[in-house]
Amino acid sequence: MRSIAVASGKGGVGKTSVSLNLGLALAEKGLKVCVVDADVGMANLGILLGVDRAPISLHNVLTGEASMRDAVYDGPAGLNYVPAGLSTERIRRIDYGRLRAAVGELKSFDFVIIDCPSGLAPDAQAGIKAAKELLVVVTPEPSSLADALKVRSFAEKNGVRVAGFVYNMYYADAAEVSAKDMGTVLEAKLLAQSPIDANVRRASATQEPVFLKFPNTTFSQRMRVLAGELTGEPVDESKVKKDWLAELVEQITRIFRV
Ligand SMILES: Nc1ncnc2c1ncn2[C@@H]1O[C@H](COP(=O)(O)OP(=O)(O)O)[C@@H](O)[C@H]1O
Ligand SMILES: [Mg+2]
Repeated sequence: MRSIAVASGKGGVGKTSVSLNLGLALAEKGLKVCVVDADVGMANLGILLGVDRAPISLHNVLTGEASMRDAVYDGPAGLNYVPAGLSTERIRRIDYGRLRAAVGELKSFDFVIIDCPSGLAPDAQAGIKAAKELLVVVTPEPSSLADALKVRSFAEKNGVRVAGFVYNMYYADAAEVSAKDMGTVLEAKLLAQSPIDANVRRASATQEPVFLKFPNTTFSQRMRVLAGELTGEPVDESKVKKDWLAELVEQITRIFRV
């Protein structure tokens, strides 16, 4: 079992979108995947999946009331997931230290993807420490880079291997920090990149994962690239079909960067 924490420091960069849709891309390869919503405060994964309430959630596991195996549910397209559970009034009883052992219970999976909260508070720290590998999600802004560096250094201090990073939500703007510069400063491998793809938001509005609703939109294709990088079966970039808008954005970006 490979456990991968998806973290960023900065909020709103695409951690939950990447966690869920990477999970689906790995499941499409026939792998057994469980996505864990470790963002107990926000519980966004359930919203993207269109599931309301689960009788047992990670919340119950972290308070010691339930075992992790009882919190695993069947999701779409063969994906399994552990919902965070929404209960702000009981959040105080949570012991984040339990997360690591809980993830360890999920041995029957090929991949366990931990969708981490933003920041580096105890909840985010626990999410990262519960995994063996870290996948950093960044957007092309200096603040995202700065936060990613903090996350990276925390992971390293705790013996979590940095698998690489996803460069997300870029668009044609010369003021953006380039993926190459991000990689140099982060000292991490660029595993996949996705421009702003309107279908990501469109799908989330219908509470259907973008990977299933728009399997060939740019973001979904890039999640296949990411899955291929992680499993050591790289997708041939020339076979990655691009939609015309993304293609145009990339061309413009290239032109303005020379
Ligand atoms: N490549 C993308 N293109 C367009 N919108 C995106 C992309 N990635 C994520 N989003 C949108 O950005 C917002 C934040 O994404 P989310 O995955 O919730 O981030 P985080 O978990 O880091 O807070 C959501 O509205 C999501 O639909
Ligand atoms: Mg999130």
